[in-house]
Amino acid sequence: MKIVDLSTQTPAIKEQAAILLVENFDKPTGWPNMESARKEVEQVLCDGFALAMVAEEKLLGWIGGLPEYDGRVWELHPLVVHREHRRQGIGRQLVAAFEVEAARRGALTVTVSTDDDSGWTSLSGVDLYQDLPRQIAEIRDLGYEHPFLFYQKLGFVITGVMPDANGPGLPDIYMSKSTRAISRDHQPAGGSQPAGDLQPTGERQPPEDCQLSPAVEKDILGGLAAFQEEVGRLKGAGGG
Ligand SMILES: CC(C)(COP(=O)(O)OP(=O)(O)OC[C@H]1O[C@@H](n2cnc3c(N)ncnc32)[C@H](O)[C@@H]1OP(=O)(O)O)[C@@H](O)C(=O)NCCC(=O)NCCS
Repeated sequence: MKIVDLSTQTPAIKEQAAILLVENFDKPTGWPNMESARKEVEQVLCDGFALAMVAEEKLLGWIGGLPEYDGRVWELHPLVVHREHRRQGIGRQLVAAFEVEAARRGALTVTVSTDDDSGWTSLSGVDLYQDLPRQIAEIRDLGYEHPFLFYQKLGFVITGVMPDANGPGLPDIYMSKSTRAISRDHQPAGGSQPAGDLQPTGERQPPEDCQLSPAVEKDILGGLAAFQEEVGRLKGAGGG
């Protein structure tokens, strides 16, 4: 079992990465079909980086990183471990490798947003505009093992919420970690290698080499065109 750079893997492994997004998230979170999942894999590889845990040509899990705030912050997105291989430390190793790679790319903060779209935490079904700091400090899992517990174990702290992000009473939960803590956690004494089984990741493609497939590009351009059309319509409606 080893962690590798997903961008250097075979098309078959990248296809498995898309399959994991469709089949290994608990509903309603997750990707609805292979088309959207393939786009996600491609987009993450294009905009940031992705690391994968593989064992004999099988993908056990993968993690992506996306730059925000001019690269001072890197978002962990997405993260998934195959159902049959959970609770074996794979998620922890992937996050550790993500943190090291993000720090190497200049991150001061790593962050993740973990939706509570099914009422799994005490932050659901309540008024988050009332004494939010207390509600965050007293967050409880309601018995479903929401992933915030996983991230807390890995040293992430809740740095905010987005009320009603997933519908009335269903927030998104923002968790972050300083890379100062990351260097402390993952640098073994006397060495500069990260913890976990991170292997040399091969040649990385610089961002300028990144080419979106025609399908994804068409999607983005289509969205842009629709946006411009809407702006034009609103301007017209407003008389200017
Ligand atoms: C969340 C997820 C990535 C965890 O991966 P994993 O490989 O099972 O995690 P690990 O085995 O490395 O767990 C690390 C620690 O967190 C704990 N943990 C893992 N998932 C947990 C959960 N849902 N609730 C509580 N604790 C959890 C483990 O018990 C372990 O604790 P320990 O070190 O004290 O033994 C995995 O469950 C998953 O892919 N879930 C579906 C996709 C998803 O929700 N992704 C996150 C979206 S933000």
